[in-house]
Amino acid sequence: MNALLTALSLCCLLVSTREISACIATERDALAAFNASISDPNRSLRSWQGEDCCNWGGVSCSKKTGHVVKLDLGGYSLKGEVNLSLADLTRLVHLNMSHSDFGGGAHSRIHMLFQDVEIS
Ligand SMILES: *[C@@H]1O[C@H](CO)[C@@H](O)[C@H](O)[C@H]1NC(C)=O
Ligand SMILES: *[C@@H]1O[C@H](CO)[C@@H](O)[C@H](O)[C@H]1NC(C)=O
Ligand SMILES: *[C@@H]1O[C@H](CO)[C@@H](O)[C@H](O)[C@H]1NC(C)=O
Ligand SMILES: *[C@@H]1O[C@H](CO)[C@@H](O)[C@H](O)[C@H]1NC(C)=O
Repeated sequence: MNALLTALSLCCLLVSTREISACIATERDALAAFNASISDPNRSLRSWQGEDCCNWGGVSCSKKTGHVVKLDLGGYSLKGEVNLSLADLTRLVHLNMSHSDFGGGAHSRIHMLFQDVEIS
């Protein structure tokens, strides 16, 4: 009986943890479009697989709201076009894209897109 109860509560614990960290679908799509649009020669984004974007490398979600609040891609050496779908990350407060090369105008476009975001 005790073992059953333990198993049950463990199971509920896992389910609720999952719910809290689950990623918001529009934000997952925005990150997937970004991923598809850039080139990632060092495969720094290889952990970007599956539905729960809160578990992807460099992505941090708010534990309360599930929104992506931080995108830390510092040192990832990404190249190419920044997909403007990133604007769907409406609760982003910190973005680190140091060491990436997004070509002409990308930096000012990113600053325009994320006026309230701390960018490094
Ligand atoms: C990210 O891009 C890589 C390489 O194109 C791809 O294999 C992977 O499935 C993409 N991930 C997502 C979540 O779209
Ligand atoms: C951004 O992503 C959308 C949806 O995947 C795609 O249609 C569009 O071409 C991408 N833009 C760039 C600049 O890659
Ligand atoms: C990425 O790859 C390039 C060339 O393969 C290498 O020079 C560079 O140090 C790598 N950057 C990181 C952060 O691993
Ligand atoms: C951004 O990322 C780089 C490389 O990982 C790191 O050195 C730097 O401290 C980061 N900046 C901030 C503000 O976290």
